[in-house]
Order: sequence, then C-alpha cells, then structure tokens
Amino acid sequence: MSGTPDHALNDGTRLPAVGLGTYPLDDAAAEEAVAGALGLGYRLIDTALNYGNETGTGRGIARSGVPREEVRLTTKVPGRHHGYEETLASFEESRARLGVEYVDLYLIHWPLPRVDKYVDTWKAMVRLREDGLVRSIGVSNFTAAHLERLELETGVLPSVNQIEMHPLLPQEELRAVHAAKGVLTESWSPLARGREVLEDPTTVAIARDHGVTPGQVVLRWHTQLGAVPIPKSADPGRQRENLDLFGFELTAQELTTLSSGRQRRFGGDPESHEEF
Ligand SMILES: NC(=O)c1ccc[n+]([C@@H]2O[C@H](COP(=O)([O-])OP(=O)(O)OC[C@H]3O[C@@H](n4cnc5c(N)ncnc54)[C@H](OP(=O)(O)O)[C@@H]3O)[C@@H](O)[C@H]2O)c1
Repeated sequence: MSGTPDHALNDGTRLPAVGLGTYPLDDAAAEEAVAGALGLGYRLIDTALNYGNETGTGRGIARSGVPREEVRLTTKVPGRHHGYEETLASFEESRARLGVEYVDLYLIHWPLPRVDKYVDTWKAMVRLREDGLVRSIGVSNFTAAHLERLELETGVLPSVNQIEMHPLLPQEELRAVHAAKGVLTESWSPLARGREVLEDPTTVAIARDHGVTPGQVVLRWHTQLGAVPIPKSADPGRQRENLDLFGFELTAQELTTLSSGRQRRFGGDPESHEEF
C-alpha cells in the first residue's frame, strides 16, 4: 500500500490525498500511464466515459497487479446520459468497459442546469450505491446552488465535488460550502494545465526555498487546503514527482501568496457549459 495520506468521506469510505488524471490519454496511453502510476504508489485514478479511455484505464489497473480493493477508481456519467434509467444504463456501459465489478467513486460529470435532469441522475447514483455497484457517489462542476438542490430534493449530499481549482482559481467560497456540508473537494486541472502557474516567478521562488519543483509546490498547496488534486501526467518522472508531496510544508503566508485572488477559468462555467 502507498504511503499517501487519505481523507475520510461522508459515507465512511476513504480517498487518497492525491490521484492521477487520465484526460486526454487514449486507451493505449491510459493503460501505460495507469499501470505505471499504480506501480509508483498512486491509488486514486480518475477517468470518465467521455474521455474514451475507460477500456485502457481498466486494463492498466488489471496489469498493475495492485489488488483491486486497494485502488479507488473514479468514472463519470456524461451529459447525454442524464436521467434515471439513462444513468443506470450508462453505468453498465462504463463498468463493462472498465472490466470491473464495482466502481469506487461515480460522479455526475457536469450539472447541465438547462437540461435540468441532474436530480433524477442523482437518484440513480443513490440507487447504484444502495445496490453495491458503486462505493461512493459524487458530482463534478456543481455550484453551491446545485448542491443545495440535491440535498433538498433527495436528502443525500455528494461525498465529493470535483471542480476546476488551481492558484488562478482558488475556489474559496465553494470550498467553504463544501467544508460546511462535509463534501470533499477534488481539484481538476490542478496545475492549471502547465506553464502559466508553473513558470510564475512566485511559484518558482517558493519551490527553490523548499528544494522541490514548481509542480510539487502547486500540488502541495491543494493538499494543504484540504483538496485532492488529480494531476494528469503520462511521464513516469512527473508522476513520481506529483505523488511525492508530503515531505515538506508550505507556510500560511506561502499558501496565501499562491492563491493571489486571480479568477481565471481554463474550462467551462458550470452554469452554462454543455458537454454531452
Ligand atoms: N471533471 C471535469 O470536468 C474535468 C475537467 C478537466 C479535467 N479533469 C480531470 O482532471 C485531470 C487533470 O486535469 P488536466 O489534465 O486538465 O490538467 P493538469 O493536471 O493541471 O495539467 C496536465 C498537464 O501538465 C503536465 N504536467 C503534469 N505534471 C507536471 C509537473 N509536475 N510539472 C510540469 N508539467 C506537468 C502534463 O504533461 P505530461 O503528461 O507530459 O506530464 C499535462 O500537460 C484530467 O486528466 C482529468 O482526469 C476533469
């Protein structure tokens, strides 16, 4: 088992403090990246039906030789499958592609408020958990209002909300809502997809002070804020670096400096983004 710390979820299960993203790897590249990452000690893997690499991700897990019960495998229901029956069917599709008996964390990929089917979709997720096919259920790209509505209409809060988060979009308000409701924050595009944040002189200077890389500084920022980053890397060296975050600690001042109040999205706005 890896030495990565983990978090307790509101459903009694646990989630590693850092995971591996797999977008935009194809099946062959995902198989390599996932098998390699598990060999390095990763135990949380993030995919989605819409990434088109569930088959490769499943193969990577099988090939790694890591016992299935040690791996926390995440996948997501896409917009075109919103609705109760559609979600149950979509899950079966994902499960067959992944080649697994159960999924550890199943997420609604985007809320699509205009389509207005995320509550029915959520009811199907609850059913999948009751049936033992999914260990934990969550959402992605949900706003505070979307979370409120799930809670009001179903009485069940997600265990996780996977949102865009990085130093250019620190998500203070939504993280406070998550903390109040007991929802764990997962951060997608945790490195803001590369250069801009990693080459920022502030990040570089903090990295130098701690004798680590800029990527490690940014990922440590996430973990110290209580969020679980899922950096994507297909490179074994960067995969190793991205997991090796717990031998140094940023100061409170450094955390504040890194989240310098900029608000820049690289992905869609959850209120309007439509991805089917
Ligand atoms: N829920 C959603 O709507 C949603 C949306 C977007 C993404 N996601 C998930 O979040 C994951 C991560 O997000 P992302 O892939 O958009 O962005 P990211 O993880 O912030 O950045 C990935 C990029 O950074 C490079 N990189 C990785 N580690 C590095 C390091 N230590 N130093 C320098 N460069 C590094 C990678 O290249 P190399 O591979 O060459 O290392 C890749 O080009 C995705 O893979 C996906 O699983 C979810």
